[in-house]
Amino acid sequence: MSFVGKFHEPVLLKEMAGLLTANKDTTKAKLYADCTLGGGGYTREILKSTPEGVKAAALDKDVFAIEHCKKVLAEFGERVIFVQANFSNIKKAIQQAGFENVSGVVMDLGLSTYQLNYEAGFSYQRDTELDMRADKSQKLTAKDVLNKYDEKVIAKILFEYGELRYSRKIAREIAEYRKKKKFETTFDLVELLKKQVPPRYLNRDLSKLFQAIRIEVNNELENLKNALEDSVDVLEHRARIVAVSYHSLEDRIVKNFFRNNENLKVITKKPVEPGEDEISRNIRARSAKLRAAERI
Ligand SMILES: C[S@@+](CC[C@H](N)C(=O)[O-])C[C@H]1O[C@@H](n2cnc3c(N)ncnc32)[C@H](O)[C@@H]1O
Repeated sequence: MSFVGKFHEPVLLKEMAGLLTANKDTTKAKLYADCTLGGGGYTREILKSTPEGVKAAALDKDVFAIEHCKKVLAEFGERVIFVQANFSNIKKAIQQAGFENVSGVVMDLGLSTYQLNYEAGFSYQRDTELDMRADKSQKLTAKDVLNKYDEKVIAKILFEYGELRYSRKIAREIAEYRKKKKFETTFDLVELLKKQVPPRYLNRDLSKLFQAIRIEVNNELENLKNALEDSVDVLEHRARIVAVSYHSLEDRIVKNFFRNNENLKVITKKPVEPGEDEISRNIRARSAKLRAAERI
């Protein structure tokens, strides 16, 4: 694995760390869980802002993130417990690491810059194989969704996960296309959409289309719901959960879960969003919404 530039630029880093630890005496904390290790920015910040005795369980389902962070977080030695796992299994991961509870949980949803720039299928700006798996050991790929799923199911995915208004029309075109040849690369999909959408809406709708298929391939919304449920079970009294999301579907799940769970108190009445400064440094931050809740 070789790449140029940053693996990932963390978003709302100080805000995340501040909210995660604000209410707790961190000298009594034992373990924080970073469900989405990525480039390790959040784990690093958590370990920097807590005493030596505190550890971090660092989960990611992407083996590249784990391998990268073993190098860049080496200075923290045994304070980091790396777990290559889906965060929907957070409870099990914590137990396997030898802990019953955690002093805080953080999830920074979506993709890392590395995944977008170097792994196959995620970006519509590069012509790569239609893969889109964050976890390469899983079977289902974007190609399977496009080449094998029923047209009606594809329409539903595009509508629900991409919020594409003309989802049925695009699904129809996908079904027509694959009668002649199979979908192989990202540009097959880009070319298909180019024929359907006026140029000024193309990037917006490509984002939506790719988001929809990626959510399906990685089962992202179900995983998020399971991880939130599981996290509440392992949070110590007054420990916090902080979640950063990048699109309205995820944010809605987080918001409603925090509001409706009887064991949680909402800390952020409104989501915390990045300021102009951060957005000008890191364009990816522009859609970020951070929400925090506390175990009661
Ligand atoms: C936005 S990045 C996290 C960046 C990180 N906060 C940092 O500072 O570098 C999201 C990461 O979450 C991982 N991820 C997404 N869904 C996951 C899941 N269900 N289980 C485990 N990891 C997941 C992705 O593979 C990706 O590496």
